[in-house]
This record gives sequence, structure tokens and C-alpha cells, in this order.
Amino acid sequence: MYDIPHLFICQGFFFNGKGDLSCLLFLLCVDIAAIEILDRDCLEIWYNIKIMTTELTFENIKKNREIQTYLEFTDRAFALMGYKEHGRHHALYCSDIAGQILQYLGYGQREQELAKIAAYLHDIGNVVSKHDHDQSGAVMFLNFLNLTSYDDEAFAVASAIGCHEDKNMDPVSPIAAALVLGDKTDVRHERLRTDDLRSLDKHSKVIAACRKVDVIVDKSRMVIDLSILIDTSICSVMDYFEIFLARTNYCRRASRILNCSFELHINEDKFL
Ligand SMILES: [Fe+2]
Ligand SMILES: [Fe+2]
Repeated sequence: MYDIPHLFICQGFFFNGKGDLSCLLFLLCVDIAAIEILDRDCLEIWYNIKIMTTELTFENIKKNREIQTYLEFTDRAFALMGYKEHGRHHALYCSDIAGQILQYLGYGQREQELAKIAAYLHDIGNVVSKHDHDQSGAVMFLNFLNLTSYDDEAFAVASAIGCHEDKNMDPVSPIAAALVLGDKTDVRHERLRTDDLRSLDKHSKVIAACRKVDVIVDKSRMVIDLSILIDTSICSVMDYFEIFLARTNYCRRASRILNCSFELHINEDKFL
């Protein structure tokens, strides 16, 4: 009998010295017969991935059982680590914001659709590991499509997923920029799993303090505005900046790709 998990752990180490790619290699490369030896559930998942030959639409992606499984497992892993929600609700929020931003700025229907797909899928790589989940997510998406020929839409979505954590770089396209704005503005307190403030770390306390979050697109001024109401009895405005400075700067970069400036209002005061 093959020792497949051991084999793939070894190959993961071969690739990056840390073994982070092991699970991804397992998902992408393992022989179907070998999976059958290991686990029939894996086999079923593999078959379902491979039959994603229907049209690439947001509705098809949302309905796909394998994508649902990835989001569910991702969220379960984050729950175990004590992190905020990273499942379907976060995915839906991001896709909604990403799609609306492009819609209000006058981008075409298909670009809106692709931005929604990329935003919905952006965190699926966490099913492998939080480390480099942007890149593993992009590869998982390409494999999921089972492409037989060049497809620029697939690469547009994959590159948007793959760069969504590159906070020191500009997003590679309007689709990527819309994804970043959807993701990095999702500071809603609803994502927390507990109301017990005593159990929260500094990051989670800032999220707990964000009582209302609005993303507003003002096309006449070409401005994307993030407007937040913070409960200052939970955290100060300075705490918000301390924790979220990098993501705020990333929102600025993303807005620039959309030919917009980025504004930030906290409790109706303008900070950017
Ligand atoms: Fe992410
Ligand atoms: Fe995310």
C-alpha cells in the first residue's frame, strides 16, 4: 500500500522547505486510484472539482459544492484558531462590495462578474494554510476550472486572488483592486464569534468597536469612501490606525488603480 500523505509531505518540503505546499500538492496531483485507497470523500471531492465545465459565472461558483466545502473548512480552521469569520459571509460581503464598486464606476458587466467571482473565492487557499493562502487559492482556482486552453478571464481572476495580500504592491488590475477594497474594508463587528470583550485580542477589539461600516463610491469626484462608526468605549481611533494602517494604505493603492482617491471617515471625522 502507498504511503501517499508521507510522500506528499516530502514533496512539499522539496518545494519550499516548509511543507506548506503538501496539502495543495495532495489536492492537485494525487492519483484518483490512490485517493480511493485513502478516503472515499476525497474521491468525491476530486470528481466534483474535475467536472467544473459549466460557464464561469458568479451563480455557478456560489452553487458549487466544492467551493462551499472549501469555505466551510476555511472558516472551521479560523474558528479553531480563534479568528473572526472567514467563510461564506465574508466571501459574499467581499463579492458584493467588489461588484458594486465596479458597477458604480461604470465598468462592464463581465468585469463586475469576474470581480465578484475573485472576491468570493479570494480566501479559499486558507483550506491549505493561512501562510501564502493568496497564492495557493489562485492555483486551486485554476485547477478547479480544469482548463484545456488559454483563458484570459481565468487568469484575470487567478491573478486577483493571488495578489490580494500583497499590501506593498499595487493590485494588478481593476478586478484585483475591487477585490482588495471588498476584503480590506470588511471590518464589520458581525464577523466576531463572541461578544465577550475580555477574551478579545487588540485586533479583535478594534473589529468589535466597528459598529457600522459603509463603502461609498462617489463617481462625480472619483472617490471611494470608507465610513466607519467606532464605539470609542471599546477602542480609540488611534487603535484603529495602529492595527489597520497597512490595510488602509492598501485601500489607497487599490483606489488609485480605479482612478479614484480613497477617503476614510471615522465617526464622521475625515482622516484621509
Ligand atoms: Fe486573504
Ligand atoms: Fe479575506
